[in-house]
Amino acid sequence: MYSTVIITGASSGFGKGFAERLAPHCRRMILIARRESVLQEMATAIHTQHGTTVDVWPCDLADSQARAALLTKLCTVTDKSILLINNAGLGDYGEFCTAEQERNRALIEVNMTAPVELTRTMLPAMLQADKAGIINIASLAADLAIPDFAMYAASKAFVASFSEALRIELNKTNIHVTAVCPGPVHTGFGDVARRTGKSKKEVPFRKWFYSTVPCVVNTALKAVEKNKPRCYPSLKIRIAGLFVRCAPLWLLRLIMSTRPRKATPIT
Ligand SMILES: NC(=O)c1ccc[n+]([C@@H]2O[C@H](COP(=O)([O-])OP(=O)(O)OC[C@H]3O[C@@H](n4cnc5c(N)ncnc54)[C@H](OP(=O)(O)O)[C@@H]3O)[C@@H](O)[C@H]2O)c1
Repeated sequence: MYSTVIITGASSGFGKGFAERLAPHCRRMILIARRESVLQEMATAIHTQHGTTVDVWPCDLADSQARAALLTKLCTVTDKSILLINNAGLGDYGEFCTAEQERNRALIEVNMTAPVELTRTMLPAMLQADKAGIINIASLAADLAIPDFAMYAASKAFVASFSEALRIELNKTNIHVTAVCPGPVHTGFGDVARRTGKSKKEVPFRKWFYSTVPCVVNTALKAVEKNKPRCYPSLKIRIAGLFVRCAPLWLLRLIMSTRPRKATPIT
């Protein structure tokens, strides 16, 4: 589908799913995340199985200096078709007033600053390419302010809004931009988002609502191919997304303020 594919957050969950799904179809793959040994293992497996050239570019996307070094390397990437998947992200379950400042900062850098900087860096090469795509992994949370998940939901609203505007700016070019809005999926995400000392029961979703990594990956790839502005992987998430986007704000506020919360309300 694309000759060069760049994936952030490639060491786990959706990112790993994208890498495995796209490996047989691309010439070169650039894998980005912090866990270098995991990425190296993936690179070896992908190269052995499919002959794809895999570059492992480990980077802590929350670190501005490490990001700057990564952007310098990305500036050298050119090809006839390029797909950038801005996937790396983290959450923080719990009330905002006890959130750690350092974690808030990391969330902002990884969820918002990194996709913006990577996109801006890759755009010149993408404009020169015959075909290019940008997949920005947002969330169903992009359309909803979520108490006890305030920073995360706000960061995903940013990703979705950024994608929509960028897409319009680029609509006369060969670059497709798609924001992907998954609902809950079992990946490493829940464990990372859970604060130290909090039990697994804190995760505020029901089992039936979950979808799967292949569903998210396949829906996202089809959507970017068809140049869809957004996609909501799985029927139940599409329905939930439609409800959230059509419901008046007062109703969403009522639902979010009356839904059961694990955190003790602040008095
Ligand atoms: N799972 C869900 O329910 C769900 C739902 C909607 C949207 N999403 C979004 O989907 C995306 C992927 O999440 P996932 O579910 O696949 O979770 P995951 O399994 O925890 O994967 C997150 C990825 O992001 C990378 N990452 C985290 N912090 C990083 C940092 N500072 N620097 C570089 N890479 C970093 C991780 O790699 P390292 O740890 O190796 O650095 C990992 O590869 C995220 O943007 C998330 O917000 C997830």
